[in-house]
Amino acid sequence: MIILKNKEEIELMRQSALLVSKTLCEAAKMLRPGITSLTIDKMIGEFIYDHKAVPSFLNYRGYPFNSCISVNDVVVHGFPNNDALKEGDIVSIDIGVILNEWHGDHAYTFAIGDPGEELAQLIRATKESLYKGIEKAVAGNRVGDISFAIQEHTEKKYGYGVVRELVGHGVGKSLHEDPQVPNYGKRGSGPKMREGLVLAIEPMINLGTRKVYTEEDGWTVRTEDHKPSVHFEHDVCVKKGKADILSNYAPIEAAEKANANLFSDYYRQVVL
Ligand code: CO
Repeated sequence: MIILKNKEEIELMRQSALLVSKTLCEAAKMLRPGITSLTIDKMIGEFIYDHKAVPSFLNYRGYPFNSCISVNDVVVHGFPNNDALKEGDIVSIDIGVILNEWHGDHAYTFAIGDPGEELAQLIRATKESLYKGIEKAVAGNRVGDISFAIQEHTEKKYGYGVVRELVGHGVGKSLHEDPQVPNYGKRGSGPKMREGLVLAIEPMINLGTRKVYTEEDGWTVRTEDHKPSVHFEHDVCVKKGKADILSNYAPIEAAEKANANLFSDYYRQVVL
């Protein structure tokens, strides 16, 4: 069942999405070689509680952490752990909150230092594909128009692997609502979208094979060939003419840019 949101509800959902954006920004500021994902996850939990919200992933179907932190060949649902991040790693941080009963759920993939040309392109293309999908999230279109746009910009254009087993979704008072939003599909297929539909659109794109498997822990999803994978996610409200992106990458990108300066040769020689 698809649940449409009214104007007031959309504004509340924007607050939830923006709290996730702010939390991702704080996480971005911590990223550097030597830090562990568990340290970041602890900060994420504290930051969310400090803002009168609850980390929604914690205990969701038994999920044991505040956030999902997925490094390199981990596609999504990575457990934060005590391994030090190192230069060249790529790190997806996925955060959910419940604020005033409404869910925010979004994600960003960062590089630690310089990941190299091949990975930089994978990251850029995946982020671009998210925006290509969002362009199609307008009233009157169908969900398959979003799916098709993402697949075109990743699989068709670059030969990347588009994960089939995991999909985007509606979001609202529940973390996962109808409809499902696959990152592959046919133009003009799927449910028709109406104003007030809020979607979490989340391309999960692999450098190599699209095939993935889930580890013994029941959560960690990895690529079968152990090549890296990238994940970006926005919360988006369907509107007439142009989608309304509820989450905001601007503060996250500002923190990312500041980090890039930290990784300059100067920083490497003088500070580290
Ligand atoms: Co999601």
